[in-house]
Amino acid sequence: MESIASILLDWYGRAGRDLPWRHTRDPYRIWISEVVLQQTRVAQGTDYYLRFTERFPDVESLAAASEDEVLRMWQGLGYYSRARNLHAAARAVVAGHGGRFPASYEAVRALPGVGEYTAAAVCSAAFGLPVAAVDGNVLRVVSRLFDVAEPVDAAAGRRAVTALAQELLDVRRPGVFNQAMMDFGATCCTPARPACAECPLAERCLARAADTVTLRPVKRGRATVSDRWFDYLHITCGGRTYLRRRGAGDIWQGLYEFPLVESGRALDFAGLSSGDAFRVWTGGVWRLTGSVVMPPHRLSHRTIHAVFHRIELPAPTPALASCVAVPQERVGEYAVPRLIENYFSRTYR
Ligand code: ADE
Repeated sequence: MESIASILLDWYGRAGRDLPWRHTRDPYRIWISEVVLQQTRVAQGTDYYLRFTERFPDVESLAAASEDEVLRMWQGLGYYSRARNLHAAARAVVAGHGGRFPASYEAVRALPGVGEYTAAAVCSAAFGLPVAAVDGNVLRVVSRLFDVAEPVDAAAGRRAVTALAQELLDVRRPGVFNQAMMDFGATCCTPARPACAECPLAERCLARAADTVTLRPVKRGRATVSDRWFDYLHITCGGRTYLRRRGAGDIWQGLYEFPLVESGRALDFAGLSSGDAFRVWTGGVWRLTGSVVMPPHRLSHRTIHAVFHRIELPAPTPALASCVAVPQERVGEYAVPRLIENYFSRTYR
């Protein structure tokens, strides 16, 4: 069976981006590109990289510059400690390595501002050292390929993903492999809308097989804890609206709301209306007359992403017996959460 690395490298040959730092094996230039790109997108970072390496073409010229000038070249990129560290590292290379960029992982890692990711990216691309560079893109790609359920922002999960990335690495072409992983994460295996239909690794992706792609990577405290997705069914039937009192053990105890379908992620209407909960509330015959997507509603410990769907029924369903049937003009008499008040003020203005 073809290896994941070879499928990825083949994809990179066809679809990878042509970026200026990929035409050099000069560790200095590769290092500059990685530091520029740490908190900056490629589109903005490319100009800075070109201007910076034109003014400071090698480690000596950077070391010889004043900090003021280095910061001026960095102006607009933000996170200025990156620029100060670059300057300090250039001086360390001149003072401690005779002006030659060090060629071992440990020595590169020891430079000011250089972490594991940057050391791996520079050493693989410039010296062909077989170390996987694990950034946010790679964490996402690998945790999807292997359907890793451990949080990747905790030490154990990060270690597990790093070990898997290291196993995937093509040791004959580690620099190209690392660039390919980054590009694949940036353009195909993206956070919100991954292009699984065009993905060359779809058949090898365990998250795809388990339908967990959008749930990976898992982050501590994400999803179920800090974000909730509410689809409210604003059901009307014969001039009445159905409200329901919230029970104990959750937010908004004792307040009224519409019948609610909660899910672990955003649903579109097709996804919502094909689910069991929707069918129980509405029965088989209903008419959707509009949906209102609310802005994210922030509570102290969570954010509610709510969509209200206005649905007309020809007759009440058995499930609606758990609600009060309120004439339109009297909905204002019920205590409702602020979120629902906001919706009312949009709807009944
Ligand atoms: N982001 C961080 N490093 C990168 C690189 N070498 N190429 C593209 N995007 C990146």
